[in-house]
Amino acid sequence: MSKSQVQPQGIKFREPPIFERGAAGRSGASLPALDVPEVDPKTTFGALARGAEAELPEVSEPEAYRHFLRLSQWNYCIDSQFFPLGSCTMKYNPKINEWAARLPGFLNLHPQTPDELAQGTLEIMWHLEHALCQVSGMDDCSLQPSAGAQGELVGLMMMRAYHASKGRNPLKVFIPESAHGTNPASCALNGLVAVKLDRTEDGITHPEQLLAAIERESGDDICGLMMTNPNTLGVYESHLPQIVKLIHDKGGLVYGDGANTNAIMGYARHGDVGMDVIHINLHKTFTTPHGGGGPGSGPVCFKKHLIPFQPAPKVTRGDNGRYFLDRNRPESIGRVRAFQGNFGMFIRAYTYIREMGGEGLKLASALAVLNARYLWWRLKDHYAAPVEQPCMHEVILSDVEIEKATGVKTLDIAKRLLDYGFHAPTVYFPLVVPGALMIEPTETETKETLDEFADAMIEILREAKEQPELVKGAPHRTFVGRMDEARAARQPRLRWSKESAAK
Ligand SMILES: Cc1ncc(COP(=O)(O)O)c(C=O)c1O
Repeated sequence: MSKSQVQPQGIKFREPPIFERGAAGRSGASLPALDVPEVDPKTTFGALARGAEAELPEVSEPEAYRHFLRLSQWNYCIDSQFFPLGSCTMKYNPKINEWAARLPGFLNLHPQTPDELAQGTLEIMWHLEHALCQVSGMDDCSLQPSAGAQGELVGLMMMRAYHASKGRNPLKVFIPESAHGTNPASCALNGLVAVKLDRTEDGITHPEQLLAAIERESGDDICGLMMTNPNTLGVYESHLPQIVKLIHDKGGLVYGDGANTNAIMGYARHGDVGMDVIHINLHKTFTTPHGGGGPGSGPVCFKKHLIPFQPAPKVTRGDNGRYFLDRNRPESIGRVRAFQGNFGMFIRAYTYIREMGGEGLKLASALAVLNARYLWWRLKDHYAAPVEQPCMHEVILSDVEIEKATGVKTLDIAKRLLDYGFHAPTVYFPLVVPGALMIEPTETETKETLDEFADAMIEILREAKEQPELVKGAPHRTFVGRMDEARAARQPRLRWSKESAAK
């Protein structure tokens, strides 16, 4: 194995589930003796009262604490090592964001606190909305959506409401083949029809290609276009102004998937190239934590003509400088999320933006692109690079030829990387690249880490040629070896039960 400075090694404790540990009567808390009359729950709750004990684990405080600490050590996390999961953008989460989100005034505020008593939180939301508008070149913003995918759903709902206000109901939405799967899914959820734009040789969409698709597929039935920029092949869509014009000329609107804004902050703005509405993933671009399904935040930013249709209620600053939630918005698509969204994420993103400032955000994008291009340069002669020009914030490689020569698959390479101490990149996505390895290093990683990762990738290639079985059987050094992923997906065992434990 290559000499990486950081490698998985050392002690990890294997232990049974917490339900199988402890002893009757053991506890981590010392409760005072009962000094009020005992009550039979049945008299209050009737048939709903529990008949038997809940069978909760009975463990001491150290047992409970160690159990959860041990579990946390069985897995990779961005706080312990390089995590180059392409498209998902696993940025380091600065600890000052955590400090800010835990300030008692934010943490303990009840979501139904009257506006007058929640001025600080409303003010932060208002400033965050304005900061996101500045980054994206848009006129207004709604923080409600709780994920990029929900942002897409909401943006398309706003586009539909806009068309409806003009007495139209167009259905077709053009989407490049390389788009994130959530794009066509959001169309389907809105009752819209996704029309695919095929991948081109250079990885970007061309005006003539769109024009041909418009004439062939839709005539005047154009709701709009969904375009990711930089796209999921890691390439900047350089024809956007002409493309946007083609759609606008047909009465359609342009949705920008701004999940990759981290590559262009301070250099290009979705609004400036004519897009009408976008979402931004705070959990990708603005360092708020994610993984394992959330909690995310996917605010939508949009142009003036879509303002009336945005979700309600809306954080507003009155003429007296006081903030309030404006509920009187008759053309709004309505509420899309309980309360105002994932508020803790707003604090983290806002802290990051204030900490970085405009110049800092610009530098973050520059370094994200530099790091990805460095990896591209280190690896392109070893693994095929399906897109020829230098990438933006993520690099896409392909190992189809390696598989043909050695039988080692993309998944095997991903698993073997775990043995070298690296979380695997995204594999088999984008779908338009067979054998895709999608690597997103992000801006905070050092050259030493990038070199260690590139060395490991090159070393695995050598292993694939000389000892293919070693790579096919990986990982060998992790706590748990190769899983039966199909079985885990089809028959997940997510709950402990006495019966399953006895098997
Ligand atoms: C380009 C792109 N669009 C949309 C999404 C969906 O975002 P989310 O996972 O927050 O729903 C992602 C997620 O990584 C993405 O990379």
